[in-house]
Amino acid sequence: MTRIAVIGTGYVGLVTSACLADQGCEVTGLDRRQDLVDALELGEVPIHEAGLAPLLEAGRNSDRLRFTTSYAAALAGAEIAILCVDTPMSETGAADTSRLMSAVDSVAAAASSDLVVVIKSTAPVGTARDVHERLSRHPGRFTVVSNPEFLQQGHAVDDFRRPRRVVVGTETGEPIRELRDLYEPLGSPVITTTWETAELAKYASNAFLATKISFINEIAAICDAVGADVREVADAMGLDPRIGRSFLNAGIGYGGSCLPKDVAALVHTAREGGHDALLLSAVASVNDLLPSRTVSRLYQALGSLKGKRIALLGLAFKPETDDLRSAPSITLAAALQAEGALVTAYDPVVRSIATPGGAIEAAASALEALEGADAALLVTEWPEIVSLDWQAAAKTMRGHVLLDGRNAVSDAAIAGTGLRRIGVGVPEHTDG
Ligand code: UDX
Repeated sequence: MTRIAVIGTGYVGLVTSACLADQGCEVTGLDRRQDLVDALELGEVPIHEAGLAPLLEAGRNSDRLRFTTSYAAALAGAEIAILCVDTPMSETGAADTSRLMSAVDSVAAAASSDLVVVIKSTAPVGTARDVHERLSRHPGRFTVVSNPEFLQQGHAVDDFRRPRRVVVGTETGEPIRELRDLYEPLGSPVITTTWETAELAKYASNAFLATKISFINEIAAICDAVGADVREVADAMGLDPRIGRSFLNAGIGYGGSCLPKDVAALVHTAREGGHDALLLSAVASVNDLLPSRTVSRLYQALGSLKGKRIALLGLAFKPETDDLRSAPSITLAAALQAEGALVTAYDPVVRSIATPGGAIEAAASALEALEGADAALLVTEWPEIVSLDWQAAAKTMRGHVLLDGRNAVSDAAIAGTGLRRIGVGVPEHTDG
């Protein structure tokens, strides 16, 4: 049974730990936060992620999954250490690898035998080589591997168990037995390559997804200008298999812990290499402009926003997660508060958001958030929100504007409600 230490039990580390334990590995998850480790040891599930809770419970019951704050305990007898430490965005846009490097030092100091050190954190090109050099200062035999994660929040457990691809970067580009043993049972294509190529493959993938989204948001703006419907444009484009329909949903832009950070980091990496990444810079700029465009639309619909009640429907950066990192809801709420609006909110799992204008507590239901609202702003397309009783919503609201920031509510759903639905790149629809 392979013994594995997973360093960092955030969302990637936790999913990785639970799935590997489920595969039969003996896993110890390490985190420097004692309260988190205590909670995990008690069986608490700190994040909202489909399918994770039963896996954590099974891991605990089988004794194949433990949590600790001690590097010595995590690494005792381990053949593989998987680094899942976060690499937040620094002020320059570059990914900050300081936590990753300090984890590497701690791993090296505690390792008692040969160890394969796997970097799963999204880390800039050159990180694996830096880690290799850093480890060469320590006694012991370390093999460094770049093995980026491609987990989509809300589907992370499934993505881990049935990955579309596994990318393994090694010093020479040759496969490594320990990783082959780990991933072969999954039956997915494995690309074995060099450190740098593996690292860039991750950034290029996320940057491409972001590019698709900003592209369709640009087309949506053109749709608004010429009276076309971006949903049908995307359908027509998407039927071409060279393009594909996914990630062509226009709206209020991409958020989350990966896309915004990874585009910025890749622009930074390019600049350091002497290349001005014009396309990727534009991708970020298009996305950054979307909240103010959304507020302008409300302004056009309602006039001054001062004293107006705006209900945000959905706070998480996307459905099926409670993650608020780079969530458009926060930027939007702050911009609305700055205009003097009174912002109420509802989300099926998020209880509150913090903005410079003051925290916003989520109401107990969407209808409660909508009570007396001049406008509803659909931010996150949770099924529960999309399939709301819009008749009841219209009744409880003071105004009749529904700004559908995800183009998620159909004309049929608001039939007879009197609501005025304003979408993104779709013709306006008023019913009743
Ligand atoms: C992303 C990548 O998809 C995943 O492969 C990687 O490992 C981590 O980053 P995630 O951050 O979970 O995953 O979110 P994703 O589903 O990609 O959505 C990102 C953002 O784009 C969300 O805010 C979503 O609402 C937005 N989005 C997505 C759109 O605006 N339009 C789309 O068509 C798709």
